[in-house]
Amino acid sequence: MSGTATELSLKDKVLALKKKRGAVIVAHNYQLGEVQDIADYVGDSLGMARFGQASAAQTIVICGVHFMAESAAILSPEKTVLIPDLEAGCSLAECITADQLAAWKKEHPGAVVVSYVNTTAAVKALTDICCTSSNALKVVQSIPEDKEILFVPDMYLGSWVRMQEPKRKIHLWNGSCHTHVRIKPEPIVQLKKDHPKAEFLMHPECGCLTASMGLADKILSTDGIIKRAKESSAKEFIIATEVGILHRLNKENPGKTFYPAAAEASCEFMKKITLEKVMWALEDLQYKVTVPKATADKARAALDKMVAIG
Ligand code: 13P
Repeated sequence: MSGTATELSLKDKVLALKKKRGAVIVAHNYQLGEVQDIADYVGDSLGMARFGQASAAQTIVICGVHFMAESAAILSPEKTVLIPDLEAGCSLAECITADQLAAWKKEHPGAVVVSYVNTTAAVKALTDICCTSSNALKVVQSIPEDKEILFVPDMYLGSWVRMQEPKRKIHLWNGSCHTHVRIKPEPIVQLKKDHPKAEFLMHPECGCLTASMGLADKILSTDGIIKRAKESSAKEFIIATEVGILHRLNKENPGKTFYPAAAEASCEFMKKITLEKVMWALEDLQYKVTVPKATADKARAALDKMVAIG
């Protein structure tokens, strides 16, 4: 059987099983192209959370990393939430434990805890309000200006927010995404020289954020980058985020050219989800992600506040 025929039959099997299970497949913008192409929804962390919650399907297959599946389980406790590979973790979510956050809160009594969604359910349970890269600024602006803020765990997203809101007292946790820190300023400077007409779009998790921020035309979430690339009249773009996003950018924008700021910015955890594993997830209803009720109830309050802000 040719490679294409194998791929086609696998895709057909996934679609048939999805129908049989009454499931929806929700994928992140960094997923492999083969996974994005069979998903009912492809988007950023906020979009995934909203889609899963709004969907009438009883089974949600999360093609992303573990915290995304946990968020779906927290928001939809009555649904079956599956992740096709339990090893699809998140380096950023590993940067802070619930015990570390509890200790930090003790040092700053009265501070409001804002957690990026790239955190474990246990950390969310100790959080006042969650945020994603697309609403972090709005979330912080919703907090009274005189309140101290503990922002966890991404120091780059946090420092970007702090630059927009210089009057606020925002303490940053020293965490970062191992993939985004692979994006360095020097190659960006070179790319800009090589493609002077290219628009430069950057994700706020980038490790080069402070050095390259002045060069960026826009700092956006992954969905923000997708939207801007479509709407912009530019024909060339430099993209500073995980390279999985290039699949959608190229697919949805024929005639436009996208240059990754770092070709090596590929998240091996995101890439753990393959089409074959999605098939096994639907076939064997594996791997179920659940969150203990007491933790989920507290974490949901922080996620609900975020979803209400938008
Ligand atoms: P968004 O897709 O929400 O921009 O964030 C990306 C991310 O954090 C994946 O780990």
